[in-house]
Amino acid sequence: MKSWHNSTRTVQTEAGVIKIVSVTSPEVLEALSIDIMMKAFRPAKRQKEALVEISRLEDGKVTTAQLDGEIIGYVTFHPPDSFQRWSQGPDNVLELGAIEVAPRFRNTKIGVQMLEVSFEDERMNDFIVLTTEYYWHWDLEGTGMHVWEYRDVMRRIMEHIGMEVKDTDEEEICSHPANILMARYGENVPEKMIRSFDDLLFMDGFGIL
Ligand SMILES: CC(C)(COP(=O)(O)OP(=O)(O)OC[C@H]1O[C@@H](n2cnc3c(N)ncnc32)[C@H](O)[C@@H]1OP(=O)(O)O)[C@@H](O)C(=O)NCCC(=O)NCCS
Repeated sequence: MKSWHNSTRTVQTEAGVIKIVSVTSPEVLEALSIDIMMKAFRPAKRQKEALVEISRLEDGKVTTAQLDGEIIGYVTFHPPDSFQRWSQGPDNVLELGAIEVAPRFRNTKIGVQMLEVSFEDERMNDFIVLTTEYYWHWDLEGTGMHVWEYRDVMRRIMEHIGMEVKDTDEEEICSHPANILMARYGENVPEKMIRSFDDLLFMDGFGIL
């Protein structure tokens, strides 16, 4: 079984030195605390448990930004859940499941730098990496941004690592026009697998006029 290659980066901030680690092991995650304001998806304590679980999955990967033994940012990668259509295609599909930065560090390039460090591993080029951006996960209240502005920010963030917007008739994506599906086809992904993934984009007839 192939494994991920770890890389790290340090970022000097007024609050101290933030360490970005591309592959955070379950043991390290267990030992770290988590900023309690990281609750975009679920309460912080439960989010940390979810990170540990993801780090234990085959091909699961958790990138973290750490400050003084505390998680202040994370990005998760895992194979698509079996109930999702994305699991029905080639097996080299990876989902960027979530990205979150603690509110006190937002808009200071931690999110983008975590993504850059995650994609430093050449093995990422063996995968089609997708992300489903649903507006109900976005911090519209905290940022005061309109849903369309936030959509634009998410698109730009993901474009930093080569993700492109994909049209699809997937029901949840189509349930609100601000939701987006994006994907990055790694350089080493065979054409046949790209075609097989593309076949998954339109399956239901939703979203087609
Ligand atoms: C989305 C999120 C992860 C971004 O992380 P971040 O560290 O704040 O983002 P960065 O500082 O790296 O900024 C990346 C880009 O977004 C823009 N951006 C980020 N926050 C912004 C804001 N509040 N207003 C305007 N632009 C913003 C930056 O200007 C930058 O744009 P550029 O690449 O064109 O220069 C973070 O805001 C967050 O945790 N939000 C809550 C959870 C969430 O919405 N997750 C996404 C759903 S999976």
